[in-house]
Amino acid sequence: MKVVICGAAGQLGSELVIRFKEEGHEVLAYDLDLDITDFDLIMSKVPELKPDLLINSAAHVNADEAELKPEISYRVNFTGTQNLALAAQKVGCPLVFISSDYVFDGEKGTPYTEFDEPNPLGVYGKAKLAAERYIVSVLNQYYIFRTQWIFGKYSKRDFVKSILKNAKEKGELRVVTDETGSPTSACDLAQIIYLVSTSGKFGTYHATNSGVCSRFEFAKEILDIAGWSEILVQPILYKELNLPCPRPKYSPLENMNLRLQGFPSPRPYGEPLKEYISWLLREGIV
Ligand SMILES: NC(=O)c1ccc[n+]([C@@H]2O[C@H](COP(=O)([O-])OP(=O)(O)OC[C@H]3O[C@@H](n4cnc5c(N)ncnc54)[C@H](OP(=O)(O)O)[C@@H]3O)[C@@H](O)[C@H]2O)c1
Repeated sequence: MKVVICGAAGQLGSELVIRFKEEGHEVLAYDLDLDITDFDLIMSKVPELKPDLLINSAAHVNADEAELKPEISYRVNFTGTQNLALAAQKVGCPLVFISSDYVFDGEKGTPYTEFDEPNPLGVYGKAKLAAERYIVSVLNQYYIFRTQWIFGKYSKRDFVKSILKNAKEKGELRVVTDETGSPTSACDLAQIIYLVSTSGKFGTYHATNSGVCSRFEFAKEILDIAGWSEILVQPILYKELNLPCPRPKYSPLENMNLRLQGFPSPRPYGEPLKEYISWLLREGIV
């Protein structure tokens, strides 16, 4: 199969390139060299490449910047995805899109399934939801994956690295208690995306590692695994950070559709987290 991956230099995109190549597929990997917001470029280049599967892992991921400069977020996350959906339609191939728990408001009180109604609080979540809806309206063959709290080797910055770097530099941390989710390994997520998007079982899937924690609990766990339990972590509330983007306070995603469609359950996040932290320490990255 010929697979075109956009956003291939990102933390998830890099793992997708590895996964599909290891499974013997031909991978054509693009990042900023194939600007997904450029309609003319996408509509000429993608049909020329004739992919069997088109993956959009490109995104504008800074949710706080999105509140201050909404057009950047809508342009990349919505219009870029719209362009790729139209290109996929022209080629007649399925499109993979990565969405987020930010499509939910976090008020439900229990994990969200694919059958719950979205209600995004901020621009990033609104752009992701609009992109999902556009895909569903124009394509029959699509795979939408909603995920959250991604960490992994190819991240420029992720929560795990930030906690360990700040712990090392400052010796103590302040972390929010009122944001809860499921940390997800980019490598494990790439494996789920690979399995689902080669199955023909089109649809929308929640895809996270299993296990739920608050940011505060996650930070403590990261420090414990690193052997730095002596670092003081001060619990704070999200509002104390004065950030522009409102976050869903409780948005774990239940992987119900993966279960319904007979896919294997993702493992607990603690397992890839241990592997990742060992690697970060071994390589001297933190
Ligand atoms: N990270 C998370 O915790 C998280 C949670 C939920 C959902 N997601 C979604 O998961 C997907 C992958 O996220 P990620 O963490 O791998 O993000 P990432 O590391 O930032 O990767 C995205 C890549 O897309 C590139 N890009 C930005 N604008 C582009 C454009 N116009 N054309 C082509 N490429 C462009 C980025 O380049 P630059 O870095 O140079 O801008 C980056 O290399 C995204 O859809 C994201 O919204 C992520």
